[in-house]
Amino acid sequence: MQEWIDNIKKCDSLEDLESLRIEILGKKGVLTAQFAKMKTIPNEEKKLFAANLNQQKTAITAALEDQKTLLLAKELEKELESEKIDVTKFEPSKNNGAYHPVASTLHQITSYFQNLNFSVEDGPLVEDDFHNFEALNLPAYHPARDMQDTFYCNDKMVLRTHTSPVQIRTMMKHKPPIRMVAPGAVFRKDFDITHTPMFHQIEGLVVENGDVVSFANLKFVMEEFLHHMFGDVNIRFRPSFFPFTEPSAEVDISCIFCKDEKTNKNKGCRVCSHTGWLEVLGCGIVDQNVFEAVGYENVSGYAFGLGIERFAMLIHKIGDLRSLFESDIRLLGQFR
Ligand code: PHE
Repeated sequence: MQEWIDNIKKCDSLEDLESLRIEILGKKGVLTAQFAKMKTIPNEEKKLFAANLNQQKTAITAALEDQKTLLLAKELEKELESEKIDVTKFEPSKNNGAYHPVASTLHQITSYFQNLNFSVEDGPLVEDDFHNFEALNLPAYHPARDMQDTFYCNDKMVLRTHTSPVQIRTMMKHKPPIRMVAPGAVFRKDFDITHTPMFHQIEGLVVENGDVVSFANLKFVMEEFLHHMFGDVNIRFRPSFFPFTEPSAEVDISCIFCKDEKTNKNKGCRVCSHTGWLEVLGCGIVDQNVFEAVGYENVSGYAFGLGIERFAMLIHKIGDLRSLFESDIRLLGQFR
C-alpha cells in the first residue's frame, strides 16, 4: 500500500492522478479486485480482512484527495500568474491626440521668450482703428495702410491685421520696462498657396527707461532665437520699412532646403525662389511716435513680429500653407 501512496504523492498532474485512482479504486482496480476476494475468504477471517481493506481504501482515498487539492492549488497559482496585470505599468496609447503643428510651433516660440523673462500678452481680434493703425504711426490715409489688406467691420473697427496692436494695449496698461510677446490670430484679405485670410503671428516688444536699447540688442536676441529654432543657419538683416519701427529690418535665414552639407553653400531651390535665403521675420527699433501715442517719455525699445505658420512650415517641411487649415487627419497624424 505504501507504494501506492508514494506514487500518488509523486503524481504531478490531475490526469495522471485520475488514472492512478482508476488503477487502484476503479471497477477493475487492484484494490477493488481485493474486495472481490472476500467471497473466497473463510468466515472467521472475513472481519479482519475487510477491516484491513477498508483501512487501505480510506488511506488511499485520503492521499488522492490531498494530492488533488495540492495540484488544484498549483494550477490556480499558475493561472493567476499568467493573468497578472501590473496596474502601474505605463503603455502609451497609439491613438493619442497631438498638438497641431501651428499650436506646437506657437508654444515653442512663446516658451523660448518666456524663458528670457518675456510676459505673454493678449488682445482682441476685432480692433479699433487707433490700436491697429493710428497709434502704430499709421495715420488715416497713410499709404502704408495698403501694405495690409484689411477686413473692415465698419468704418471704425477692423479684424486686426497684425499682433502689433497688443504692443499698444500693453504699453497703455503698464509702465516701462516691458518685455512681452503676444501670440495670436490675425486677418488679411489674401488667399493662395502662401497666404490664408487667417493666420497667426507672434509679436515681441522690449522697452527700457532711458536711451539704452540698441539695434545690437535686437540683433543679438533675434540671432540667438533663430539659431535656437533652425540650428546652424546663416542670418542676414536687410533694411526694410515698417511705420512703427525706425530703423527697420527684415531678417532672412539661409535656406534650410538647399544647403550643400560639404561646401555649406546654398544651391538655390523652389522654396527660396533660387535666392538661397528665406525671409522669416520683421523687426526694428520702436519709432518715437509710437511711444508718444501711448504717453511714454524718455524710453527706448525694439519690436519684432513673425508668422507662426511660416515657421511651422519650415520646421516641419510642409509645402502648402492651406493644408494647415484643412483638418485632414492624415496630415495631423504625422505630428504625434
Ligand atoms: N507687424 C508687422 C507685420 O505684420 C511685423 C512687425 C512687428 C515688424 C514688429 C516690426 C516690428 O508685418
